[in-house]
Parts: sequence; structure tokens; C-alpha cells
Amino acid sequence: MIKKFITILAAFMTLNVSCQNTTSFKPGQLWPDNNGVHINAHGGGMLYFNDTYYWFGEHKIEGEKGNSAQVGVHCYSSKDLYNWKDEGISLKVDDDPKSGITKGCILERPKVIYNKKNKQFVMWFHLERLGYGYGFASSGIAVSNNVSGPYKYIGCVRPNQGQWPLNVKEIHKMPVDPIVMTKRYPGDNLFGDADTVNILGRDLNKGQMARDMTLFVDDDGKAYHMFASEENSTLHISQLTDDYLSYTGQYARAFVGRFMEAPTIFKKDGKYYFIGSGCTGWAPNAARSAVADNIFGPWTELGNPCVGADSTLTFHSQSTCVLQLTGKKNAFIFMADRWSPKNAIDGRYIWLPISFENNKPVLKWLDEWDLSYFVAMSKLYLIINVKSMLKYQ
Ligand code: GAL
Repeated sequence: MIKKFITILAAFMTLNVSCQNTTSFKPGQLWPDNNGVHINAHGGGMLYFNDTYYWFGEHKIEGEKGNSAQVGVHCYSSKDLYNWKDEGISLKVDDDPKSGITKGCILERPKVIYNKKNKQFVMWFHLERLGYGYGFASSGIAVSNNVSGPYKYIGCVRPNQGQWPLNVKEIHKMPVDPIVMTKRYPGDNLFGDADTVNILGRDLNKGQMARDMTLFVDDDGKAYHMFASEENSTLHISQLTDDYLSYTGQYARAFVGRFMEAPTIFKKDGKYYFIGSGCTGWAPNAARSAVADNIFGPWTELGNPCVGADSTLTFHSQSTCVLQLTGKKNAFIFMADRWSPKNAIDGRYIWLPISFENNKPVLKWLDEWDLSYFVAMSKLYLIINVKSMLKYQ
């Protein structure tokens, strides 16, 4: 009896191990979880908590219908970033047609941060309520006391109602052209200068538009929400209150009229870096990068961080998050989605290490790589530093 039990246990362990023995990243390939199923966490974000990485993303289903939220936000956990355990759906869409997150709504780019003060996990996402297409342009918020959920949807918001940004211009305070008040914009063109058209002024009273987004927690614990606003023409960076559930009213506009999407922020050597995309829907375009000394800007654009073949299409992907490895200095992973809009569930993940050349982030395609890349890179940086020190002695 005991022998039989041990044989079954050994067989089970072999099976489990066979799904959990990944030792490298293979960008663009299927990425099986602990059940052997391709990871379903698109437009994702990452949270490190209790020595574990948690990956949250959009759960997609088959076909074009899968581009809308039919299930909710999926969560996976990992200790090593290669092998992922399915933690289930952490935020479920609702069957109630009156809910803000009714099944079939658009719920994209979920990001979770941990609020130490309230011991609460806070999730923000781009939310388009059912029936509005992409016209609702709001941010949804959900909370949980448990990292993987279940998360409770607490509402949605159009940011900074009645508040001018720190870098507001006089032109924004002028009366808004009545045509602008009622015009429908396609989301990739304002047919004029972003300040003069003045979507900022148009939306002052009802709150600013918020679509593609990310969250960033700074070293001092202050959190920021960066999102595509003003009909996608301009990004806003908005400080969150100490509970991470609303806005302090301190915010700034960045990349005015540049139609940037898919924002990511990370911090290296005291500077804030940005990687994002242009605005072409599911179709890939050239990534953009930028740097700033202050999170509210001014931001200086650094151009396309990608080099080599397919660099003008971000290797057929669009950014979603930059993950800073915990416990490793200057080790950053660029996380992006290779969308598959005709069969949403088949979207692939492009993870690449970020290197820095002349203080600019650089992304190079790798068919396969592992975390030892960062060890090799830090040795290289050491050699470069020593060489430049010797040169100037
Ligand atoms: C992309 C955006 C995605 C999704 C898509 C819809 O530009 O980054 O999150 O909204 O457009 O077309």
C-alpha cells in the first residue's frame, strides 16, 4: 500500500515538475503555467510581495470577443519569474448589467500596488463601461486584503475633476470652442495643436479622460497613476492619495500632443525613465522612451529604445510594464504584449532585459535568455566604469 502511494506521489511530482522546469525566457513563444496552459494575463503588471512575484493581467478568451472583458483579471505567482502558478481570477466581471464592470465591458492593463499603511492591495485599470466603446475613458479601482484576491470593485473615476495640472497654460483657461465641446475624436488625432484644441479645458468639470495606464510607487511610498488622456494626445501623471484610492489633485501633463500609449515608468540612479508606444491600436509601432529628474517632468524624449530587426515595431509588441528585479541593482525587464486581436487568447508575451547605453534604455531582441544576463551586464558596467576612471586619471 505504502509502495503504491509512493509510486503515485512520485508520478504526480514528475508531472508537476515537468510543467515547472522552465529555466529561461523565450519571448513570443507559448508560456505554459503550472497546469501546462498558456499564461492568460495580457496588458499585465507585476507586484513583488512576500518573496513572490504576482503577475496580474487581462484574462482573454478565444476569438475577437476575447478583446473585451468576459472573465476578469487573472493572477499568477512565481518565485523565479520563469515558472508561474495559476492563482485564479482575482477580479471577476459581473453579470449585473448595472455594475461598472459588467461582463463584456473593456477592462485593460490592470496594475496592483500594495498599500502598507492600510495593509491593502489596490488594483487600478482602464475601464470602459459596457456600451460606450472606448468613449467612457475612466479608471476602475478594486481592493483586496489578500494579494491574489478576490478583489472587490469599488468604482471608477474620471481623474482630477475641477483641478488644473501643475503645468497648466493660460490658453487652457480660455473659453473652449463649442465645436470641441461636442466633436467626436478618433483617439489618434486632434486635427490641431493639443493646447489650442484644449481637451484639457473641455474635460475640466467632468474629469479628465484616462485610457492606457500604469502605476508607479516611488521610494518614499507615494504612488502615481500615469494614463493616456486628452483623447490620447497627452499623458497625465497624477499623484495618488496615501491610501492609493484617489487623487491628491497634484498632476502634470507630459508629451503634449505626442499620442503616447502603453506607459511604463521605472527609476534608475535617481532618474525616472519612461517607455511607451505610439497610438495605433492593437497594431505595433515604434516604442518611445524618455527621462526626467522629477516624475512630474519636464520629460526629455530619448527616442526608440529598440535596436536591430523589427525595432520600428517594438519586435511586434507593445509595452505594458517594466519590472525592476528585487534585490538586484539596475536589473529591469521590459514586459510587452504581442497582441492577437483576431484570437485574443493567443496573445504572446515579449520580455526583454533593458540595457543602458549612454544613459539611454536599449532593447535588443533575444530568442532566449535568462536572469544571468544581468550578472554579465553588471560585470560589463564595472569594466566600462573602471576603464573610464583610468582614462581620466
Ligand atoms: C491599444 C492599447 C490597448 C487596447 C488597444 C485597443 O493601443 O494599448 O490596451 O486598448 O489599443 O485597440
